[in-house]
Amino acid sequence: MAELEGLEFGKSDFVLLDEVTMEQFMENLKLRFEKGRIYTYIGEVVVSVNPYREMDIYGGPAIEAYRGRELYENPPHLYAVSDAAYKAMKRRSKDTCIVISGESGAGKTEASKYIMQYIAAITNPGQRAEVESVKNVLLQSNCVLESFGNAKTNRNDNSSRFGKYMDINFNFNGEPTGGHINNYLLEKSRVVQQQEGERSFHSFYQLLRGGSEETLQSLHLQNDPGLYVYTREGAGAATSTNDRSSHREVLRALEVIGFSAPEVKSVFRILASILHLGNLRFEGDGEAVQVLDPGTVDHIAELTATEPDQVQKSLLFRTVATGGGDVIEKEHTEQEGRFGRDAFAKALYERLFGWIVSRINDIIQVKNYDPVLHGKNTVIGVLDIYGFEIFDNNRFEQFCINYCNEKLQQLFIELILQQEQGEYQREGIAWQHIDYFNNQIIVDLVEQPHRGIISVLDEACLGVGRVTDTLCLESMDSQLGGHPHYTSRKLSPTDKTMDFQKHFRIRHYAGDVTYSVEGFLDKNKDLLFQDFKRLMFNSSDPVLKEMWPDGQLGITEVTKRPQTAATLFKNSIVQLVDKLACKEPYYVRCVKPNELKSPVLFDEARCRHQVAYLGLLENVMVRRAGFAYRQLYPRFLQRYKMTCEYTWPNHLMASDREAVEAIITQHGFHDDVAYGHTKLFVRTPRSLFTLEQERSNLIPILVLFLQKVWRGALARRRCRRMRAVYTIMGVYRRYKVKAHFWEVERIFTGVRTTPDYGRSLQWPTPPAALEQFHNITVLLHRRWWARQIVKNIPPSETPEVRAKVAALTALSGERKDWGVGRAWERDYLANVRDCPQTSSAFIRVTKELKNRDGYGHVVFSGLCRKVNRFSRSSDRALLVTDKLVYKLDPRKQFRVLKRFPLETLTGVSVTSGPDQMVALHTAVQDDVLMCLQRGQLGPEQDRVGELVGALVDHFTRTRKVHFPVKVSGPVLQLHMRGRPRSVAVETRAGLAAADFKKSRDGFVLLLPTV
Ligand SMILES: Nc1ncnc2c1ncn2[C@@H]1O[C@H](COP(=O)(O)OP(=O)(O)O)[C@@H](O)[C@H]1O
Ligand SMILES: [Mg+2]
Repeated sequence: MAELEGLEFGKSDFVLLDEVTMEQFMENLKLRFEKGRIYTYIGEVVVSVNPYREMDIYGGPAIEAYRGRELYENPPHLYAVSDAAYKAMKRRSKDTCIVISGESGAGKTEASKYIMQYIAAITNPGQRAEVESVKNVLLQSNCVLESFGNAKTNRNDNSSRFGKYMDINFNFNGEPTGGHINNYLLEKSRVVQQQEGERSFHSFYQLLRGGSEETLQSLHLQNDPGLYVYTREGAGAATSTNDRSSHREVLRALEVIGFSAPEVKSVFRILASILHLGNLRFEGDGEAVQVLDPGTVDHIAELTATEPDQVQKSLLFRTVATGGGDVIEKEHTEQEGRFGRDAFAKALYERLFGWIVSRINDIIQVKNYDPVLHGKNTVIGVLDIYGFEIFDNNRFEQFCINYCNEKLQQLFIELILQQEQGEYQREGIAWQHIDYFNNQIIVDLVEQPHRGIISVLDEACLGVGRVTDTLCLESMDSQLGGHPHYTSRKLSPTDKTMDFQKHFRIRHYAGDVTYSVEGFLDKNKDLLFQDFKRLMFNSSDPVLKEMWPDGQLGITEVTKRPQTAATLFKNSIVQLVDKLACKEPYYVRCVKPNELKSPVLFDEARCRHQVAYLGLLENVMVRRAGFAYRQLYPRFLQRYKMTCEYTWPNHLMASDREAVEAIITQHGFHDDVAYGHTKLFVRTPRSLFTLEQERSNLIPILVLFLQKVWRGALARRRCRRMRAVYTIMGVYRRYKVKAHFWEVERIFTGVRTTPDYGRSLQWPTPPAALEQFHNITVLLHRRWWARQIVKNIPPSETPEVRAKVAALTALSGERKDWGVGRAWERDYLANVRDCPQTSSAFIRVTKELKNRDGYGHVVFSGLCRKVNRFSRSSDRALLVTDKLVYKLDPRKQFRVLKRFPLETLTGVSVTSGPDQMVALHTAVQDDVLMCLQRGQLGPEQDRVGELVGALVDHFTRTRKVHFPVKVSGPVLQLHMRGRPRSVAVETRAGLAAADFKKSRDGFVLLLPTV
């Protein structure tokens, strides 16, 4: 029900054919093949037609498309069945198996590889190393098994010459934990003889063509298969594979799987021994027989790690136990010698193959599995077994292979019918019987105890005396003469397609096959002289020894006859069928479109024949018997609910079943369906088509609708996210703000009681939002802190502090020394400590001045050197009061020389140096230039800062006017009588005190060097 494929590609499920006839079936198969649709369903069975070309339908993207999907959701594919098997295994803990059948070259082995590839790809998403390694070994084992078990035949360049059943074990988690390979009936006769144009097993050619010179030399081989009798036939055959590169791949695969280097060497030594054996020639003169190539015998002995004379002896004699318990050595005839050699070569190869398989099994077997701990261990089996073979000359091998296919067909019939029947029963729907050809009768013909062909063969082998193939045929004729599926020339004398005493024919379900009885007995007996077994067991090569445990027995101990090849094979096939029967089967039915390996040719007759004997038409009929299509109610509802208003988008009914009924009723299909307990059964595919059609018409609308809804949902989600982001951001910001407050509070708690009122505390960095706030708080704290300091200053010190603060601000750090560290006495001329001789006189004068001029207090007083506009300098006293500025003559009892109101001062200039020069600027541009002198209190102390501070404080605080202070470099600018003058400062040696000198554009203040 793959809706992804249009009808132009034919019907993707044969149950959808309008009529189940061979014509329609073939038409659909052909159409699909021509359109490159190689897979088609019959229900859950995949019919595959070998495309004989690379198809772009495998690999990663395809695997993803099928992963976890239902069969009908994608075009038919092996992957879909693999997934169904895997799902059944994983979801329902069912052991499942995938049975791949079809004739040689129909694509079974390729199919099994794709199935393995799929299972490997979808498991172990966690890339766990131990699981990966199991998968790796499972995948790599293919390459090794193909090398040793496949050969070029006329039908298939890479024909599997053995049957393979591989179990993959899974843990409860659906991860592969190990596996097991069963191999069936290796066609070992191919080792010694091949049909025209065919080859022996790939391994020989790969070794000869791909082995390094060194390897070949150590094996005494040359790189030409034409030189060896056993490989001569196929030496010239062209193949689609490259032996050289394949050899490299096999070596790598052996290593990956875990074969040790000595083991690999042993394997190649055995291959070489077989090639050498083939080249041995026997010659007899009627009595004694001898080996013509002693050198080759030596090589064989070396390669098998045995003694040359022992090898020679085993080739020429056989040890026989006489009736009396004695042992005698009997010499071979020439013919027996050759027979023994070939039997030995075949057995060597067969055991080598068996050993390789068991070695792989050792490595991949599930280890340390504890069902209690790991849950149920489930299995998927993949069966890739030789298909039905009809050759011109059909031998014992074809007999076995075709018997095997009969058994599998029987299983197919049983399981498919059983399943179908079971399903109807479970769902409570009446079952209608369908006629199909039951091949049990043919199976019985071959395997029935005491009467079947195998039993007749075995009896003939057991018989004493000389029993020949012809005698055996006679006994079959007499025993099975009446069987409808058995005939021979003797039984139908008019049939010239068979020879007397040579041919018998079985009417297999897949067609009539004429077997040639020649060689049946020998092959069934599978005789190998004991001497070879003992020879090999006594090899000092441990690998070889391990392959031949039965060589341990002494000649007299071997009493029981070994089971015959046919019986052994029958038993293994019965076991296989038992194994498959308890699993849920999935089928891949391979069809070979033509004999020419052509990708375009659809050989109608051949295909029709295969379709007929594979029972595909019956399969379709069984599937359609009552109801072609069935689906679980919830699934059905899910798929078609958009076609009914009551069910879209969700129904309000009590159960899904009722909802499905609503859909069916709306479409008027109620006569065409049956309601099971869990599933809906639809009788005609047409109803389903109608539903599908309607569905695909509605899908684009739904897609648009869903897109709309989804886009809306996406947008809403984005919006919600943004909102959430903002909320989170807001909360976080608030938290940061609070956290900042908490932190400030914590740091500054108790700051009142600390000596520095928190001046030394580190403020926390504020969040960006609090930057401004933080600055203000810091400022507030400073103010508060300053207040605390200022509060404690006594009123008597207030003027001094004010003056200092004023000076600090006015000088703004430009003057280095400004006397801040000392007490500012302000009225130095009245200070007896500073001017002990003159202070009393000055106090007297100021008292008078105060009385007369009525000033409030002294702002500053002190001695100074003053220069006038005539460049004459003289010692003077400066008295600055809050009202007037006086210039006094200190030598004349402080006679007032000049006075002017304080408000005429407009600013002051000083230098940044230690000199005591001050220029008092006046509004009339007639500035006062002087250099302050210091008394006894401190001849070196700075008084400029004090004068500046006192003036600035007075002007700004009392008079509320700005009083500019200029701090210049060593040159100071002023005006005298309106003319600009500059005063430079220089030092001069030998000077007693600072003094002014006239210069070109003003004055120079000369300072004594210190
Ligand atoms: N799915 C496929 N895609 C491409 N080629 C295929 C496919 N299946 C089979 N073939 C071709 O057919 C050949 C025979 O297939 P194979 O699987 O060996 O047949 P069988 O195992 O049935 O004898 C392959 O070597 C390959 O060339
Ligand atoms: Mg094959």
